[in-house]
Amino acid sequence: MKTVIVCASVSHGNTRRVAESMAEVLDAEVVSPEQADPAELAEADLVGFGSGVFYQRLHPRLTDVVKALPAGRRGRAFVFATSGLPEIPLAPFTRPLAKLLEGKGFEVHESFTCRALDTMLPFKLVGGIGKERPNAADLAAARAFAERLRDMP
Ligand SMILES: Cc1cc2nc3c(=O)[nH]c(=O)nc-3n(C[C@H](O)[C@H](O)[C@H](O)COP(=O)(O)O)c2cc1C
Repeated sequence: MKTVIVCASVSHGNTRRVAESMAEVLDAEVVSPEQADPAELAEADLVGFGSGVFYQRLHPRLTDVVKALPAGRRGRAFVFATSGLPEIPLAPFTRPLAKLLEGKGFEVHESFTCRALDTMLPFKLVGGIGKERPNAADLAAARAFAERLRDMP
């Protein structure tokens, strides 16, 4: 199974740590948005897209990669994110990108999100929130998520 994980992790490397945990399970390559090869993404069996959340959105470098992909018959895809604050259940951070991927022809699975160190102001004044995260439990949850994707019939 050819799996690629595209990850924009610009702040603390939080999302990259989650991506690496998933990649171990999925035997996947982790690439930055700039390294992502559109032809490879189009042909892959499974593609993951992840970033931190910035002003309620995933990183534009990540979403731009998906916007630039031509629509067609694609493989499976999933979205993942790390954030300082919890998600609003009715408006998940990952939903807009999942919708975009569906529009490009991917079969989109459930998403994965976890809390992570956030040093945006005003949290910076107290050394940030979500210190020590993603922690071992978060990374174990990321691996379990990846195992479910890997083991799907
Ligand atoms: C400028 C900036 C804006 C942010 N905006 C949000 C936000 O709107 N909601 C949120 O939950 N976290 C927000 N965060 C926290 C990041 O989503 C969090 O630190 C994330 O784990 C960063 O991922 P990375 O280290 O992989 O880049 C923000 C952080 C920065 C630096």
